[in-house]
Amino acid sequence: MVGRLKIAVVDDDLEMGRVVSDLLSEEGYQVAQYQSAAEALVKFKTDLPQILITDHRMKDIDGLMFLRKVHTDYPSVVSIMMTAFGSIETAIEAMKAGAYHYIVKPFKNEELSLQVKRAGEKVCLKQENTFLKKELNKSFTLDSIIGKSPAISSVFELIKIVSGATANVLISGESGSGKELVARALHNAGPRKNKSFVPINCTALPEHLLESELFGHVKGSFTGAVTDKKGLFEEAHGGTLFLDEIGDMSLQLQAKLLRVLQDRQIRPVGGNHLKDVDVRIVAASHRDLKILAKDGKFREDLFYRLNVVPIRVPPLRERPEDIPLLVEFFIKKFAARNNSKVIGVTPEAMGLLMAHPWPGNVRELENVIERAIVLSAGTLIEKYVILGSALEEAQSNIEQLQADRPTLEKLEERYIKLVMGEVEHKKEEAARILGVSRRTLYRKERLYGMVSAETPEPLED
Ligand SMILES: Nc1ncnc2c1ncn2[C@@H]1O[C@H](COP(=O)(O)OP(=O)(O)OP(=O)(O)O)[C@@H](O)[C@H]1O
Ligand SMILES: [Mg+2]
Repeated sequence: MVGRLKIAVVDDDLEMGRVVSDLLSEEGYQVAQYQSAAEALVKFKTDLPQILITDHRMKDIDGLMFLRKVHTDYPSVVSIMMTAFGSIETAIEAMKAGAYHYIVKPFKNEELSLQVKRAGEKVCLKQENTFLKKELNKSFTLDSIIGKSPAISSVFELIKIVSGATANVLISGESGSGKELVARALHNAGPRKNKSFVPINCTALPEHLLESELFGHVKGSFTGAVTDKKGLFEEAHGGTLFLDEIGDMSLQLQAKLLRVLQDRQIRPVGGNHLKDVDVRIVAASHRDLKILAKDGKFREDLFYRLNVVPIRVPPLRERPEDIPLLVEFFIKKFAARNNSKVIGVTPEAMGLLMAHPWPGNVRELENVIERAIVLSAGTLIEKYVILGSALEEAQSNIEQLQADRPTLEKLEERYIKLVMGEVEHKKEEAARILGVSRRTLYRKERLYGMVSAETPEPLED
């Protein structure tokens, strides 16, 4: 390390500067000598040292002022001040100005060597810290997505690579796995970040309303259209339009969307004029669009248009290494909000969290932690509190079914997920409970996006 460390020695006393420089050069450091602070500052712009040794009183700038400037402009530099005044006040002033140490003239060679050696160690520590901080930022979060598992890291990599392009992106993944977060991260990491990110859930609106939401409408085009209205495509101009649950869009509207994607122009409902739009499309679905296309429920040509870059968000059970990080993140988030003392979970509770198959993915984990925080009196979340909230969840699933009045298809999807969660994803057992063959179960799982397209179909029932 010694040979590679770069030191600048600044002293208007040429002779004194030379003595220091020679000594340190002999010890193997790479030394540059300057006779004024001004000269050194010019040189630092292109050739920054790791250690600076400067005199206190100099003709051009006072050494303390010089230190302050270096400390603010180049915080990585570790500095030592040489002074002829061995008072406590000078020492304190030097430290305040950002010096790592000071040394009183005249000093012995060994004393200088020792201080420089210590400064060198400090340089290494600083470099290591910056490196570690960068590593931390790199692998544990992207935008607000938390995770360090290889599965989520490859999603991070993909986001970084494709955020700069305008190619359409199709995000797949189970409910609650973080599809919307990924869509937002894509927008925030790219050149469109200062324009709008406009999300729309295609399930939430009936067909004609969804069309006018997307493309806008002119006054009088249908009952209730009392003024002209801009569509979301226009609102997202220059930015990103996030079409969530695109698998639920009607075939008719799919045809219109396809035309817009091809021509990059929209026609508002009831309007005669086409308008140019520049929008990046990010679509998401928890269902397998390929299977929907095979069954004639999704246009194949639209699928290929949207699927230029596919991003699969892995379900939480495929990346249990992320669970402790997510737990920590959610504890911080909800403890502050709820004025709670909770700072962690007991090892038994963590064991339970790691073993749960999380059919509702990160959203389910988030809910469990939020409830556990509200219910915990101490600083650690106990096992029984989590067990309690998981049971409550099952009860609220039933209540939700009664309130939602889902279609048979949705009900089927939810029931399959419920059973799969209960049997911890043991397929044979799930198929037995559901009364279907392994193959039928596989096809249903594919349809509802519960397994990836690469998962092979079982050969036998
Ligand atoms: N990796 C993650 N780090 C932090 N929070 C996450 C992560 N993944 C998901 N979440 C949180 O979990 C919740 C669900 O995420 P999100 O809405 O993005 O999922 P989704 O896949 O779009 O779900 P759905 O299919 O139900 O719409 C959100 O509150 C989100 O902030
Ligand atoms: Mg979503």
